[in-house]
Amino acid sequence: MTNKSLFSPFYINNHELKNRFVMAPMTRNFAPNGIPSDYASEYYAKRAKGGVSLILTEGVEVSHPSSSGYPDVPNLISSESKKMWAQVVKEVHKYESKIFCQLWHVGGIRKPGIDKHKDVPGYTPSGLVRANKKVAYEMTLDDIQEMISIYAEDAKICEELGFDGVEIHGAHGYLIDQFFWSDTNIRSDKYGGSLEKRTQFARDIIQACQNVTTEDFSVGIRFSQWKQQDYDAKLALNKNELKIFVDCLSESKPDFFHTSMRRFWEPEINNSTLAALVKGMTEIPVIGVGSVGLDKDFIRLYAGDDKTKVSDIDHLFDSFRAEEFDLIAIGRALLSDPDWVKKLEQNKIDTIIPFDKSFVENYI
Ligand SMILES: Cc1cc2nc3c(=O)[nH]c(=O)nc-3n(C[C@H](O)[C@H](O)[C@H](O)COP(=O)(O)O)c2cc1C
Repeated sequence: MTNKSLFSPFYINNHELKNRFVMAPMTRNFAPNGIPSDYASEYYAKRAKGGVSLILTEGVEVSHPSSSGYPDVPNLISSESKKMWAQVVKEVHKYESKIFCQLWHVGGIRKPGIDKHKDVPGYTPSGLVRANKKVAYEMTLDDIQEMISIYAEDAKICEELGFDGVEIHGAHGYLIDQFFWSDTNIRSDKYGGSLEKRTQFARDIIQACQNVTTEDFSVGIRFSQWKQQDYDAKLALNKNELKIFVDCLSESKPDFFHTSMRRFWEPEINNSTLAALVKGMTEIPVIGVGSVGLDKDFIRLYAGDDKTKVSDIDHLFDSFRAEEFDLIAIGRALLSDPDWVKKLEQNKIDTIIPFDKSFVENYI
């Protein structure tokens, strides 16, 4: 047990974070033609002003025609888009918060025809989106090398725009997770086969991003057990597998791990949460996430059961004292109440605005 507070500072790389609260990455679909809306800088600045020490942006498509899977998701391609992101960064920095851009490729979730690249298929390690379901394009070794370079070029652009780092989206069944997952990666080259080899793509991406950015720029990765194609899927079936996974990724020296959980308290293996397990295996900072301050997990949002109540958060403090994570990300609770962190710090929990679906549909 530690006596440190969730309101104590923490370092990722050389970045001092004023507390342990992070804004989780949340796609908003408000970026027609890949350009963040005029409102984006105010939207992020409100959360920085409201007390989060680090913002992880919504997923931003990497600059390859196959990366997109959903409408109106931002990218880093056009000068207008870059200009808007630079503005977002500038506004967030005014409140002494840091901001990392989440780099996203949806892999086989892409349906051809979704955007202007009508004929571009979903890119995947083995053409599979789930076990035995061959519906997408199997990447060649050249495709893989090209994709790694594109991640690196985008990380470089992010540094030039003023971002403090990038989070590589390796979670939820998208491209990088499709490489991690044995059901969707049946390659027999250096990017497939054993668990170690299935982490190679992510390791190469992390290293390539580090190679083209300065030491002060953070490069971390988000991963999850669950996949959006299969909520019961597992990246690692037991502690031993998880240790292999974490050790392999650690070789590329990411600046943080973001363990995506649906409920931050729910045990994953041997009565421990994914965040706590990973934290016990490495010195690399660990971000936890999942239903903080809410009585329902975010999958319920998409199942039509979206109205939440503000829940007791004593448990969050207990988990932090038990050293189950270093930082905690807040998702939906920050969509409905940008001042969530400040209200918690000032002990005004009864004034927190509870989340419901209208806060996803609207951009406040
Ligand atoms: C509207 C919405 C959009 C999301 N978009 C992303 C995303 O772009 N990238 C990502 O890694 N996770 C995304 N997530 C998952 C969140 O980052 C977070 O892990 C999840 O909402 C659980 O946190 P919460 O219970 O505090 O909301 C999204 C969640 C929501 C509700």
